This record gives sequence, C-alpha cells and structure tokens, in this order.
Amino acid sequence: MALISSTKLLQAARAGGYCIGAFNVHTLEMLQAVVEAAEETKSPLIIQSTVGTVKHLGADYIAAAATIASNRSQVPIALHLDHCSDFNIIMQCIRAGYTSVMIDASHHPFDENVAATRKVVEAADAVGVNVEAELGRVGGVEDDIAVDDRDALLADPEECARFVELTGVHTLAPAIGTAHGIYQGDPNIDFDRIGRIASKVSIPLVLHGGSGIPEDQVKRCVGLGMSKMNVATELRIVFSDAIKQVFAANPGENDPRKYMVPAKQALKAAAIEKMRLCGSIGKA
Ligand code: 13P
Repeated sequence: MALISSTKLLQAARAGGYCIGAFNVHTLEMLQAVVEAAEETKSPLIIQSTVGTVKHLGADYIAAAATIASNRSQVPIALHLDHCSDFNIIMQCIRAGYTSVMIDASHHPFDENVAATRKVVEAADAVGVNVEAELGRVGGVEDDIAVDDRDALLADPEECARFVELTGVHTLAPAIGTAHGIYQGDPNIDFDRIGRIASKVSIPLVLHGGSGIPEDQVKRCVGLGMSKMNVATELRIVFSDAIKQVFAANPGENDPRKYMVPAKQALKAAAIEKMRLCGSIGKA
C-alpha cells in the first residue's frame, strides 16, 4: 500500500493504548530492515530520517526507497522527517513524498514556537501531511541538573494544551525527562507529568529518546498515552556492531553484501524487540 500520513495511525494507537515505533534509518539496508520487521510482526511502522540523513542521501532518494518499500508491503507505513527547524527543508521533504514532518522550534520562546509550528501546520494540512512539534527541551537533561532547572526544561501540561489549541498540530512531543543517546544511568522520566499532559491533550503524544529505556518504563509511558516512540542511537549501534563483527573475523572482507546482510538481520531483530515493547505487534 502507498505511504500514509501518520496521523490516523497514531490516533488509532492512542485510542488503542499502544505505541508505534518510529525508527531512524541512514541507509537502504536499514530502511529495508525495519520494513521487514514490521511485515513479519504485522506492526504499523514509521520510518524516520534526520535532517542530516536528508542532506547525506537526498529527500528524493529516501522517499523513493520508502515508497517502493511501502508499495510492496501489506502493513501501513509513514515516512517522517525527524527534528527539523528549517521550513524550506520541511517543504522539500513534503514535496519529495514524506507523509509526516517534525517542526522543532522548541528552542524558541513559546510564542515563536507557536508561530513556526502554525506555519508548517497550515502548509501540511493542505496536502494531508502529519505535523509533530516539541514543547520543553528533550536532551541535555543531566542527572546533576537542579530540580528547578530540570522542571524548567520539561513541558508544562497547561502550556501543552494551549500549544495544541493555538497551532492545530497533529502530534506532540512533550519533554518529560528522556534524552537522546544512551543513558548513563536509568532515564529520569516524570511519569506524573506524562499523565497530566495526557489528561489535557487528546492528540497522540511522542516519546523521544527511545534508546535504552527499560521495558517497564516504556510500558508505563505507553499506558499513560505515549503513542509514538522514536528510536535512533540503539539501532545505529546494533547495525554498526554487526558490521564490526564481520570485519573482526575477516579484516579483508570487501563484499558489502557480506557485512550488510548480518547488519540488516541484527537491526531487524532489534526493531522487532522495540515493536514488542510498544505493543504494536499485530496492530497493522
Ligand atoms: P535515541 O537516539 O535516544 O533513540 O532518540 C531518538 C529520537 O528521539 C529521535 O528524535
């Protein structure tokens, strides 16, 4: 089936109390691996690329590969642009075929974040593309930050409600204590805050920083209303480690298929594990 907007997929997830894995991919094999994982488990899927990967591969190449994968597939797949603060790149990705985009103006004051998000929502609504925005600051949240500082970085439930109302955004990533990258200790997730945000905001909520969150904590987040979980770092590590293993055993290897096939298999297994945590298996 054709690539679809993630809005309906995520609304169904929120209503059904499960979450959809959104996986960052950087190569064709990574894209194929997460699609195979979704097909094998009958799980809805969101393929993501960062702006860096758009610059590396080209939005048209990524969209073409995702379109072919989706056309061949029986499961619903959306193609999403992760964290982007540049309106022009967002428009280029939509034009190339992305069905979902993130406008990240969370580093700006509230009113500017509203204005930037509103602008993208107006354009995206005209062509049926999902828009995700962020409130508060994900990342850089260190254990040693004082409680007051940490509080200031996290999304305020009242502000979340006002933000959704003012922007018409389809999905919201509120900062609730997760961070991008691998955690040094356990993540410091503010579950109470997720509950308070979910009680005020009915649109699907997005959990960033999905790498390394323990199983029970992912499930708690999903139970509280997180409908999309972004995973990047952990998948990159799994993929790269599998390649390293091939070269460790055979430093002279020069056939890309010989290291890409095991890397793809390792990534597929890791994606299936995240789908299990999300509760999306069988939901396609
Ligand atoms: P991780 O790299 O921690 O998995 O975070 C991914 C993410 O949130 C991308 O937006």
